[in-house]
Amino acid sequence: MNGNYASTLNINLDSLFNEHIKTLTSKKAIARGDNAIRLDKGELPYPPSLKVVQAIAETAHQINRYPNVLGGSLRAALAEYTGAKPEQIVIGNGSDDLIELILKIFLKPGDEVLLPRPTFFVYGFATRVVNGIPIKVDRKKDFSLDLDAIVHRVTPKTKVIFLANPNNPTANLEPRKNLIEILEKLDCIVVIDECYYEFCRETVADLVDIYPNLIVLRSLSKSFGLAGIRVGYAITNPKIADYLYRIAQLFPVNKVAIAASRAALKDREYIQDNIKQIQQSKQQLITALEELGLVVYPSATNFFFIGTKPLGITSGELVQSLQEKNVLVADFGGKQGLEPYYFRTAIGTPEENQLFLEALSSKL
Ligand SMILES: Cc1ncc(COP(=O)(O)O)c(C=O)c1O
Repeated sequence: MNGNYASTLNINLDSLFNEHIKTLTSKKAIARGDNAIRLDKGELPYPPSLKVVQAIAETAHQINRYPNVLGGSLRAALAEYTGAKPEQIVIGNGSDDLIELILKIFLKPGDEVLLPRPTFFVYGFATRVVNGIPIKVDRKKDFSLDLDAIVHRVTPKTKVIFLANPNNPTANLEPRKNLIEILEKLDCIVVIDECYYEFCRETVADLVDIYPNLIVLRSLSKSFGLAGIRVGYAITNPKIADYLYRIAQLFPVNKVAIAASRAALKDREYIQDNIKQIQQSKQQLITALEELGLVVYPSATNFFFIGTKPLGITSGELVQSLQEKNVLVADFGGKQGLEPYYFRTAIGTPEENQLFLEALSSKL
């Protein structure tokens, strides 16, 4: 630096940041370690099939070219997979990307977003990014939706409600009739996030032709095991789809991700085998966890929400002790209105589940 640049030093950078952005917290790089048993992010423990790896390798020599606008062939493949029309599908850089796009097209500063909590944290985070106001409505004791409470919190400023079904972190599935009741009673945008659809096969995607305010979100991160490649999609009416694409980046999903997703969608047998293995492990884990005295909430997903209260130990204490044994799970104690007794753990490979149980038993 020399004297010629002195004027730049007088800039008050803090005064330039948007006030609502200043309220967001810094992200921390958390190294999870190569040898850790990683059950904290709800991922599939199995690697993608060789067909997916092959598709990625074959695409590698074409990455000097941009991908097709609107996801090209992947949009058609997802239409075929879901039974929706291509113009009803929007592809994003993970469903996280679509959550933000939805808020950008419907919210102006100060508008409200209903969030039955506890739920997936990105809904609240993305709402704050666009200067909206997250309105939290507590779920019932069994984590099902409190329909009356939801209806009562609707105001003229309510623009969107996010319902993860099954819900993350609580793993429970809301019956279809309750979702229809919400669609009948609310005239805001209703987002039903079916990120874990393949584990439960319950969907309201067929209702997008009936309710113009319905957006169904799906992901290839979980059952398809492609979390690292970042592909999610929305199923909605063509008008909303068009608006989502208007504001999306020109190429939100890269060429390699498109090829990997297409290959994964074709290789259904591999996906089904993985899901079957997860379901088998799930049954074994329920028995073992209950024998340890933990509360295992009903799960329609590839993870469990677990209560530690009957054992008189906080989840924070338990999660810390698991971490010291290199087993990572997600602590929800004291978060989102919860008591300090809850954690979430993904279902791993049989070997990982065994190590998880051993680490738990040694603490309890
Ligand atoms: C309910 C829910 N929606 C969306 C996501 C994010 O999915 P993606 O990896 O497609 O961004 C998650 C990830 O945990 C989730 O639990």
